[in-house]
Amino acid sequence: KKGKYDHYMQKEIHEQPDSLTTTMRGRLIRGGESKMKSVVLGGLKDHLRTIRRSRRIVFIGCGTSYNAALAARPIVEELSGVPVTMELASDLVDRQGPIYREDTAVFVSQSGETADTLQALEYAKSHGALCVGITNTVGSAIARGTHCGVHINAGCEIGVASTKAYTSQIAVMTMLALALGDDSISSRIRREAIIDDFFDLPSKVREVLKLDIEMKELANLLMEEQSLLIFGRGYNYATALEGALKVKEVALMHSEGILAGEMKHGPLALVDETLPIIVVATCDATFSKQQSVIQQLKARKGRLIVMCTKGDAPSLCSSGACRFIEVPHVEDCLQPIINIVPLQLLAYHLTVLRGYNVDQPRNLAKSVTTQ
Ligand code: UD1
Ligand code: M6R
Repeated sequence: KKGKYDHYMQKEIHEQPDSLTTTMRGRLIRGGESKMKSVVLGGLKDHLRTIRRSRRIVFIGCGTSYNAALAARPIVEELSGVPVTMELASDLVDRQGPIYREDTAVFVSQSGETADTLQALEYAKSHGALCVGITNTVGSAIARGTHCGVHINAGCEIGVASTKAYTSQIAVMTMLALALGDDSISSRIRREAIIDDFFDLPSKVREVLKLDIEMKELANLLMEEQSLLIFGRGYNYATALEGALKVKEVALMHSEGILAGEMKHGPLALVDETLPIIVVATCDATFSKQQSVIQQLKARKGRLIVMCTKGDAPSLCSSGACRFIEVPHVEDCLQPIINIVPLQLLAYHLTVLRGYNVDQPRNLAKSVTTQ
């Protein structure tokens, strides 16, 4: 079943152009006589009005599914105008945090069976919120227990480390944002640009997968390290968290995703000539802020690996002091789908080089059905 690949994680990383195509199939519409571009989410069409009118949207999940929701949060807020808050499922339940009838609670889960997420679902339901599922598994407990939802249709994911489900989850939640904004004339140009880039996404992911050899070389350089920091912000704060989660869970190397805006509030103290740091600085509204983060890290002789948009390397570091991971450009809200791919590849190669089990990392289970 692994075909030409050595591991499921590797296969699932390389499958992403296809899994994204399946996620999008029948849901994004372009052309026809009216030349209209729109999104159809069959499972939500009768509920969009209710979601638009809700007081807030609460994204709830664990691990990678939480990170995917975090990546989609800005575009959901932008296009729906509804405030979005984030909850790690266990923390919502621990706090018995406030959930109201006027809330839309969105449960994100690849397996649809995660105990903490299920418990949060029961909790939100008992408080009267509209409960929406974003799941990969048809017939799973979360798919059945939610009032409505969307299947991400990424195909079965076997590796314990979630890869293709992450990119498909972001794609679906971005489509949710487009569907919620569908009634707004003022955002039409923005929405159409996103839809256009959706159609290019599989080929752009194919392009970024060509960094495989480069990521193997980088893994070779980093394999003996104790720790790896990843800085991101805006749409790519999630990329930093998710990249670090992959590195720690499969390569068993300490890694921390850090919001770049928090750098001076503590993490900067860690920076020296030895600690490797990846900075995600692809082209979006936060670019100039990331440029200044890079300058400040360089001033402290940080060992930098900069992820940037193709062609931007000279404007970020001309001295030759940084390594670069150059990725293709897409609309800002879709960029996290591209940017995670090199980090998935890096985590994969680090794991193989360090001699650890790729598909079944120490102490972990694919779906966490107990608390
Ligand atoms: C559905 C069919 C798909 C078919 C398409 C044709 C299923 C599972 N999907 O896809 O095979 O090609 O119509 O139009 O039969 N739901 C939840 N919670 C979740 C996920 C989904 O309640 O977490 C519900 C949805 O509200 C919906 C149903 O499950 O009622 C199916 O969802 P989804 O597969 O996303 O719908 P379509 O994309 O329309
Ligand atoms: O099946 P779920 O999406 O609910 O799983 C949530 C987490 O357990 C999961 O994403 C976990 O963090 C992965 N092993 C990460 O790769």
